[in-house]
Amino acid sequence: MAIRKIVTVGDPVLNKKSRTVEKFDARLHALLDDMKDTLVKSDGVGLAAVQVGVLKRVVIVDVGDGLIELINPEITYTEDEQEGEEGCLSVPGKSGIVKRPMTVKVRAQNRDGKWCLYSGTELKARCFCHEIDHLDGILYTSHVTKWVVHKDEK
Ligand code: CO
Repeated sequence: MAIRKIVTVGDPVLNKKSRTVEKFDARLHALLDDMKDTLVKSDGVGLAAVQVGVLKRVVIVDVGDGLIELINPEITYTEDEQEGEEGCLSVPGKSGIVKRPMTVKVRAQNRDGKWCLYSGTELKARCFCHEIDHLDGILYTSHVTKWVVHKDEK
């Protein structure tokens, strides 16, 4: 396992669409393990493979209730709306207000290729949407309705 370098805004890879994972092999498992180490080190709640420069449809999420690995994730259901502050490890030092669904259901494969269903509300729902957007080359910055000014920028 290893910590990988997080790609930051300005690198064109972040705007590319990630490819469907077809092989659930040791290489994928190593990527997932490295992504976990990288997320823990960065103190984040979610990470997409593209953020470590790998264009595969792989996402990990941990909002404090355990790590979820989502391979080839698809949002199958959304309900209601929430508005709140969002940031991204690839856009350091910034945050902004983004509208997201309050409840999100996701269908995804696990590291062995088995399809599983996940459901999240509030932060987890926000995180699912944010990370799955990364797989289509979309950054949260394109959804921001209002930027949050940080103390050190005044
Ligand atoms: Co992000």
